[in-house]
Amino acid sequence: MAKSTGTSNVEKKIASLKEQIRHHDRLYYVLDQPEITDAQYDELFNELVRLEKEHPSLLTPDSPSQRVGGEALDKFTKRDHRLPMLSLQNTYSADEISEFDQRLKKFLSSSQDISYFCEPKLDGLALELVYENGLLVAALTRGDGQTGEDVLSNVRTIRSIPLRLRGANPPKLLEVRGEVLMFKSDFLELNEEQEEAGLPTFANPRNAAAGSLRQLDPRITASRPLRMFCYAPGATEGIEFKSQHEMLQVFAEFGLPTLSHGSLKALEQLAAKVKGERSLRGPFELLCQVTDCKGAISYYQTIEKLRHALPFEIDGVVIKVNNFDLQVELGMVARSPRWASAAKFKPEQATTVIEEIAVRVGRTGALTPVAIMKPVRVGGVTVSHATLHNQDEIDRKDVRVGDTVVIHRAGDVIPEVVSVVLEKRAKDSKPFRIPSHCPACGEKATQIQGEVITRCTNRHCPAIAVEGLKHFVSRRAMDIDKLGEKIIEQLVQAKLVSRFSDLYRLSLNDLLSLERQGEKSAKNILESIDQSKSPPLARFIHALGLRFVGEATARSLADHFGSIEALMEASEESLTNVPDVGPKVASSIVSELSNPQLKKEIHSLLELGVKPISSAKSRASSKLQAMNIVVTGTLPLDRDDVKDLIVSHGGRATSSVSKNTNYVLAGDSPGSKLDKARELGVPIISWDEFQRLIE
Ligand code: IVH
Repeated sequence: MAKSTGTSNVEKKIASLKEQIRHHDRLYYVLDQPEITDAQYDELFNELVRLEKEHPSLLTPDSPSQRVGGEALDKFTKRDHRLPMLSLQNTYSADEISEFDQRLKKFLSSSQDISYFCEPKLDGLALELVYENGLLVAALTRGDGQTGEDVLSNVRTIRSIPLRLRGANPPKLLEVRGEVLMFKSDFLELNEEQEEAGLPTFANPRNAAAGSLRQLDPRITASRPLRMFCYAPGATEGIEFKSQHEMLQVFAEFGLPTLSHGSLKALEQLAAKVKGERSLRGPFELLCQVTDCKGAISYYQTIEKLRHALPFEIDGVVIKVNNFDLQVELGMVARSPRWASAAKFKPEQATTVIEEIAVRVGRTGALTPVAIMKPVRVGGVTVSHATLHNQDEIDRKDVRVGDTVVIHRAGDVIPEVVSVVLEKRAKDSKPFRIPSHCPACGEKATQIQGEVITRCTNRHCPAIAVEGLKHFVSRRAMDIDKLGEKIIEQLVQAKLVSRFSDLYRLSLNDLLSLERQGEKSAKNILESIDQSKSPPLARFIHALGLRFVGEATARSLADHFGSIEALMEASEESLTNVPDVGPKVASSIVSELSNPQLKKEIHSLLELGVKPISSAKSRASSKLQAMNIVVTGTLPLDRDDVKDLIVSHGGRATSSVSKNTNYVLAGDSPGSKLDKARELGVPIISWDEFQRLIE
């Protein structure tokens, strides 16, 4: 069918938009050098989406619009790797690296030095990207090495991975292997968000990356901060590489994300400088070509010193023969290439005994098993607790009370039970099951189908009440600072308080009836409760502890609806118009706010004199309207007060620096956020400059 001129113009326009978006994606996600503002980017993107909607026949799988996450799948398709995905032989010390080098020389019957290409051993999960004629057509997990699962719909959402290779002459086939991972800082933020939303947390960045990549719903993957670094070829047709060094250069030219290459000397200088410092921000030139085994050993030792300063977790380095002809000559031993070695670092692990598995009841009723262990030092701190997350995690590791376990603590990441020392297990030990009844109230707990979390659903559970109240009074909620956790527990136990509104009904006598409660402090508590009666609307919404509604979402809801009454009447549809609120969150908010008990509770609070102040009224000015500001370092005011100040002038206080950030407000001894701001060209302002902005 002949196309009308109109269509071909549209075709041209779409092609040009795609090209521009790809260009800016690469500048932003791969090179970290954005050239346009967010608003300009969104304009291009929205225009593309609009045109594709109007002309569905012009929508292609490599369009940047396909990155937002399409329909959920029932399951992943299994596919064979054209070439098996192998594993590496390990070495554990400088001596063993030396032996590896000797073995290779012996095999080659040569005493000539071998040139090695050295890389960090990234602790994520291996992924194979398949590009046919430049187009990304599959993304396979490692699986058993022969057969993997195609997670393409998820991988499309990772912005640093090109959907089409750059350049006019892509090879017929290029398979690219690399590691998908999550930065430590992104992982900590994700876990905070998960916790705030009453969702399961992840044990470590690796699990978080694996869990995110294996989501059947790509929209969830799209919301997770995944990255990939490419390091090896799979099968190829129409392209050949001479060396690891050259291959990585070609990868980078194709727009594929790789770590960059620098000198060993520069790395040694960096390592001498950081001295155990944590979470230094890149970009680092972490890859090195060295001319002999001595160089490889220095690399191993240098990277070990830098280990904690890196933004992601690594568990060693990989030493590869640089020359590909030599690699072919060296071939394989068993299931691993002879030409490479994974030189592992000593793990930061310790062994201890689990004395008890306690089950905590959270604010959302989630029952979380916690291992209480004999205190032990690991990674520089003494550890006695480790979360076991949920029943699935306990089953997978088969952790039992009395077990001797290996625990691991890397960098700033929470301690984790790695494995059980089975030889030391008592004969009579029994598998641990999260109780079928809530440990606090004794009511039956339930596990919702498809969810890993077991929950107590008793609306009157005292433990849930205590956790909900702790959240309600916390600083970022109603800010009733004199009401400590112990007193809340006492009040609930004495049945003086079971819901939020009860706090506003407390009398001096009620408080004095508690054990060890003096009059002066009781009066202070009452005063602090009284002072909490005019919270900003956003804090009031946050205080209610609705599922999925963290601080930022509460603020968006407050801005959008302006009053609690309007929010309570909001439909799902109008809720989805609020920034950060998707259909799932909207439906959850409507269902919670239509619950008669919560409705009654909100009305009671209002009747007892709680008067949330709408954002417009609580706003000091609109001078920071729609601005994202990140705070770092020590300032004359408390961090939370600075954030409040930003919000009160219409701005948003965000935690990580991105191209969306308008300013970084830097105080004394600022953190890595400052480096990030410099990298991205985000303006950095001092406290004085900030004050002038809001004057
Ligand atoms: S090269 C023949 N380079 O380590 C294997 N692997 O034990 C070629 N890994 O499955 C892999 N960082 O998931 C290579 N810089 C790196 C790596 C790396 C991490 C992982 C990879 C592989 C495992 C091998």
